[in-house]
Amino acid sequence: MSEQSIGVFDSGLGGLTAVKELIKVLPQENIIYFGDTARVPYGNRSQKTIRKYAKQDADFLISKGVKVIIAACGTVSSVATELYNDLPVPFTGVVVPTATAAVNATENGKIGIIGTSATINSGSYKKEILRQNSSITVFQQDCPLFVSLVENGFISPDDKIVQLVVERYLSSMKTDGIDTLILGCTHFPIIAKAISNYLGDNVRLIDSGRETALYAADILKTHNLLNKSNTAGTCSYYVSDTIESFRHTAEIFLGKSVEDEVKHINMEQVALQ
Ligand code: DGL
Repeated sequence: MSEQSIGVFDSGLGGLTAVKELIKVLPQENIIYFGDTARVPYGNRSQKTIRKYAKQDADFLISKGVKVIIAACGTVSSVATELYNDLPVPFTGVVVPTATAAVNATENGKIGIIGTSATINSGSYKKEILRQNSSITVFQQDCPLFVSLVENGFISPDDKIVQLVVERYLSSMKTDGIDTLILGCTHFPIIAKAISNYLGDNVRLIDSGRETALYAADILKTHNLLNKSNTAGTCSYYVSDTIESFRHTAEIFLGKSVEDEVKHINMEQVALQ
């Protein structure tokens, strides 16, 4: 079992923020990544649709024999919480690890949360923060266009369009006095530099992909599922739409070629199984 892969999924490129960290902390692990690029974005869809997609994504990874599943997606983690109960392997979403990191990081007790509309409307991060520490003040903002920017390769902090959208969404957050900001959608760390340039060094950004990867490493240890091999693990990527645009942005973000590792999967067939 321990030599089987870690399964990671997201609606698109966002979950790569967890993959990048997993490769750093658990280099011997094999990873199977699924990005549902034919149906991204999830964050402005109904709860019913998000739950249906989340179940199909997890079923696809189960069909690949993974030993653990990471929903590296703030939207799925906020809305499809029943997934936690129904899977035959250990599972984690991003909300608990990310909220915990933010609660530990804040010094002035003011935390900002940004995410997709579905995530912010669910109140998932806010509830978890207040469950851990009810004296914290929380400020929230949905930023749906960030997902489209990332999926379309607009990720440079020097890009004027990226800067304008960041300013449009975060101007009120800038005056709220927060010292910690949760990047509650896993797409957002891909444009973290632009966000940080705008908010300044006094605001610490919490990367939901990174925190979840660290949390997943603990889950593997607890379940005695760590791969003990001495050789570097492999990473395979599956996407439900064309591989080219995914590959291009993935390579910029991961800083390495993924040319031969990206394959297409037809989700309509997965949904029928
Ligand atoms: N990366 C996702 C999240 O963390 C999904 C974004 C979307 O598909 O809207 O919420």
